[in-house]
Amino acid sequence: MGKNAICRVVDITKFFPGVVALKNVSLDIRKGEIHGIIGENGAGKSTLMNILAGVYQPEEGHIEFDGKTVNFKDPREAQDTGVAMIYQELSLSRSMSVAENIFQGRMLKNKIGLINRKKMFSECRKYLKNLGVDYIDPKILVKNLSVSQMQLVEITKAVHLNSKLLIMDEPTSSLTSGEISFLMKIMRALKNEGVSILFITHKLEEIIEITDRITVLRDGRLIETLNMKDATINQMVSLMVGRDFEKIVHRQFIKDYSNKEVVLEVRDLNYENKVKEASFKLFKGEVLGLTGLVGAGRTELLQCIFGVDRISSGAVLVNDKPVKIKHPADAIKLGMGMIPEGRKEQGMFLKLTVKDNMTMVHLKQLAGRLTFIKKKRQRDIAKKYVDELAIKTPSLEQIAENLSGGNQQKTIIARWIMHEPQIFFLDEPTHGIDVGAKAEIYHFIDDLAKSGVSVILLSSELPEVLTMCDRIMVMHHGEIKGILSHKEADQVKIMKLIIEDKEKSA
Ligand SMILES: Nc1ncnc2c1ncn2[C@@H]1O[C@H](COP(=O)(O)OP(=O)(O)OP(=O)(O)O)[C@@H](O)[C@H]1O
Ligand SMILES: [Mg+2]
Repeated sequence: MGKNAICRVVDITKFFPGVVALKNVSLDIRKGEIHGIIGENGAGKSTLMNILAGVYQPEEGHIEFDGKTVNFKDPREAQDTGVAMIYQELSLSRSMSVAENIFQGRMLKNKIGLINRKKMFSECRKYLKNLGVDYIDPKILVKNLSVSQMQLVEITKAVHLNSKLLIMDEPTSSLTSGEISFLMKIMRALKNEGVSILFITHKLEEIIEITDRITVLRDGRLIETLNMKDATINQMVSLMVGRDFEKIVHRQFIKDYSNKEVVLEVRDLNYENKVKEASFKLFKGEVLGLTGLVGAGRTELLQCIFGVDRISSGAVLVNDKPVKIKHPADAIKLGMGMIPEGRKEQGMFLKLTVKDNMTMVHLKQLAGRLTFIKKKRQRDIAKKYVDELAIKTPSLEQIAENLSGGNQQKTIIARWIMHEPQIFFLDEPTHGIDVGAKAEIYHFIDDLAKSGVSVILLSSELPEVLTMCDRIMVMHHGEIKGILSHKEADQVKIMKLIIEDKEKSA
């Protein structure tokens, strides 16, 4: 082993039923480096990390850590050796306190064997302070924290285990840009202390900013490991994707609204103190962006219209008629569809097959037809979307849980697209989606709009709303601050709508 490697992956192969998740993968991780792992959805990134962290055992190959061959039977053993992992889907116990989570499995005890809470809280406070996050109270229950705070707790836990190798699987996918910079600051500090970090993300700008080296995986194979300073975005994308795809969507933006039908109108909508006096119109065949900072009330606004939350006051009109939407079922009947944020909240049935997950809404429309026709139709349509969205699965009968994170996301998108809504709410639809699939989803949204479907695209990524939206609505502190046309909108104008408000309230 090179003398500055902390960990060496040697010729690892891992199978799942019907899938070669990793094939002869070898990789050195150096002491104190930040090493990015990139690749499309289903490339094998999380599987490799899970092997390093003792969650899975490989069929072939081995791992050397700190000069010794190791064989982690479980995550505990990996942790004891110095490998800690922060999972793609967070793994904290929500109903336990921060301190209990940090000391989970190793609670501090006093002489007579009782848990020493006082000491645990004070030690925990010290750890949090070391990372500069002592505004998090060790006694607070995890479920009362924001996602980014939960992540910081996971990191604190990993660091206090004296980890030499920290694995971060898409840690930034639900963080705001401010939180991401803070996370990167912590990553750099850890690196300076000699900790090695494996970092997975689909956002290449993050890779460029923070990593020393990167490894590209594709279809379970290691394609190349390269120094970040020699790499370009184009090179990374082509190594990852290994095929050509239409990267850019050129939409024909709506210029003249004068004879456009209004399909949805919202008047003076209030919801608790989270949405204030929101009024806007959505036109037929338009993609309306909804942006702002996380916590601006964007998701709440969509959920109120869709009947997930009950509006406090205000009116919603569909095709010029006032409607009462008390439940998502009412919204669906009116031709609406919604892809909520976050896989766990999206109604993914992890124990059901890909086919059933995709077709469950659609099948209701086929009710009454003969069973065998229905079955065939179900298979055909599921097959069509697996192909169209390039969902990576060994078969339609695969249990959803076994798909990679991004492919679960695509499965949910397929479910709603086949339902053919006329008004479609998409809440951060490209989170956790690889570059190729992202382009595919953009083309899909464009096709939907062309066919007359109206879309509200909620996104925190300004480049995304700027390339995709006919108009962009900016929310801040629960209020709609302005709606910009595609032509007038740019990053500066959007940020201005947010910042001017801040200055006013300061
Ligand atoms: N427990 C499992 N059982 C069966 N197949 C699995 C299991 N875990 C992963 N796979 C399969 O192994 C392959 C690699 O999945 P993995 O989760 O490592 O991908 P990934 O690169 O992390 O993707 P993403 O970017 O979408 O998170 C995929 O085809 C996936 O469906
Ligand atoms: Mg993954």
